[in-house]
Amino acid sequence: MTRVAVLISGSGSNMVSLVKAMQGDMAAEPVLVLSNRPDAGGLAKAAALGVPTAVVDHTAFADRASFEGAVQAELVAAKADLVCLAGFMRILGADFIRLWAGRTLNIHPSLLPKYKGLNTHARAIAAGDSEAGCSVHEVTADLDDGPVLGHARLDIRPDDTPETLAARILPLEHQLYPEVLRRFVAGDRTPLVIQA
Ligand code: GRF
Repeated sequence: MTRVAVLISGSGSNMVSLVKAMQGDMAAEPVLVLSNRPDAGGLAKAAALGVPTAVVDHTAFADRASFEGAVQAELVAAKADLVCLAGFMRILGADFIRLWAGRTLNIHPSLLPKYKGLNTHARAIAAGDSEAGCSVHEVTADLDDGPVLGHARLDIRPDDTPETLAARILPLEHQLYPEVLRRFVAGDRTPLVIQA
């Protein structure tokens, strides 16, 4: 049974979908939800789902290394095998990534490798793309750059704004991430495509 830690910074809607999927028939269990923000709404949701939580407030640390050292200590204490980033808004340094190479997943709101970084939906609309979506990928030292394990795609509508597009893609994230995790913990790396 793979022991999964989920890292969040905000509302944690992706974390909720992962936890609920793991509490179903998946060979994985949620052992920790960790937030870098004490006020993250996802912390209460995790507690309500019976998952242990931790806060490692990045503003309380002088530098990235000490922050990541504190995160690592929580992951070791929880005996986590796998890390799922879910709306975690801190860039993890190479040393941390090396510790967790091949054992860290992330969900990103674009069809990677397009639109790494922020403001992904606005950029897709501005580029006149016909479709948008989200990706689950393995985390490597380069931002939003690791092997893609799954895509969920939908058509951009002429009247879409970044906000309406984000709202239509978020449910796809909640579908894609648990399904990729299910395959990943079963040792299946076949890229998954969900076409909405
Ligand atoms: C999602 O849109 C995800 O793609 C991005 O940040 C948002 C997190 O939302 N990484 P939530 O905290 O999972 O609700």
